[in-house]
Amino acid sequence: FPLKKYNTFGIEAFAKRYIKVTNLSELEHVLHTYKSDKLFILGGGSNMLLTQDIDALVIHIDIKGKKVVEENEDYVWVEANAGENWHEFVVWCIDQNFGGLENMSLIPGNVGTTPVQNIGAYGTEIKDTFVRCTAMEIATQQLKTFSRDECHFSYRESIFKQEAKGKYIITSVVFKLTKRHHNINVEYGDIKNQLASKHIENPTIKDVSNAVIAIRESKLPNPKELGNSGSFFKNPIITKDHFNAVQQKFPDIKHFQVSDTLVKVPAGWLIEQAGYKGFRKGDAGVHKNQALVLVNYGNATGQDILNLSKEVQKAVLDKFDIAIEAEVNII
Ligand code: EPU
Repeated sequence: FPLKKYNTFGIEAFAKRYIKVTNLSELEHVLHTYKSDKLFILGGGSNMLLTQDIDALVIHIDIKGKKVVEENEDYVWVEANAGENWHEFVVWCIDQNFGGLENMSLIPGNVGTTPVQNIGAYGTEIKDTFVRCTAMEIATQQLKTFSRDECHFSYRESIFKQEAKGKYIITSVVFKLTKRHHNINVEYGDIKNQLASKHIENPTIKDVSNAVIAIRESKLPNPKELGNSGSFFKNPIITKDHFNAVQQKFPDIKHFQVSDTLVKVPAGWLIEQAGYKGFRKGDAGVHKNQALVLVNYGNATGQDILNLSKEVQKAVLDKFDIAIEAEVNII
């Protein structure tokens, strides 16, 4: 079964078998029936690099639906099923005047995978509005609820990349969103500049969403036109001592203080300084407007992209003595 359409990198790879599930009882049935088979769970396919064919049964989670589950004067709790497209869900929330997700407009992928890597953009992460998610345990087909605390969220991390990895399938997520929007977040420099350029002083959640969409469209390639998985690498977090040593040699280095002892450095800057922004080898490349994003110009294999990523990692390590780690799941 061809997977090219099901991964935003647009990599040609094949699965031994493929089943799409559209509701919980189908999922339960499939997991029970194929319990002794090798399984591969597929969501929006926006955060993975396929470097080989999948010798497993691919279960595509396509469970749709969203609804308000609770509300009061100030807040609304919205539950969205795993197969909802993330951006369409964000737009729907904004149309209902539910605030909190607008900074994460236009992120590719589906709702069900957003908690896995605690997606985030422009000063907001999923953990800021996340209340709980429901997940089916693969071995038992029992549903379990994970509270926000139980998810152990941190920068691009959660329990679903650690202890719970490979054991659960997230089936729905509940977000607590605002009705009055006291805490619109426009601190990120790019958003401020974008709003200022439109002379918007008191932005609505729709204004913020539009600003984010404009920024992303100017920097990030649209997977429908140019295969990619968003940021290929995480921004490295290094110790302050390590940072000070690097800064001595490279005084312009961009950075954000994470804690008293830790500093986050933008990997896009490191890659650009290492000379790789816009670099292309065959059909694998580093995006010309955002060096953190690797792209497939058409017929790159997963191995081509992986080799390029290793070359970039080595160049950054050699120049800055900083190791950058893939954010994308390499299969
Ligand atoms: N920079 C460069 N050259 C580049 C890219 C970035 O010098 O080619 C510098 C910028 O000038 C800026 C800094 O790096 O000073 C940060 O750049 P940007 O605001 O574009 O954000 P980022 O750190 O590169 C992260 C997320 C993005 C998210 C943006 C905005 C990660 C791994 N990536 O990128 O998330 O949209 O912040 O919040 O944390 C994604 O995960 O797929 C993704 C796109």
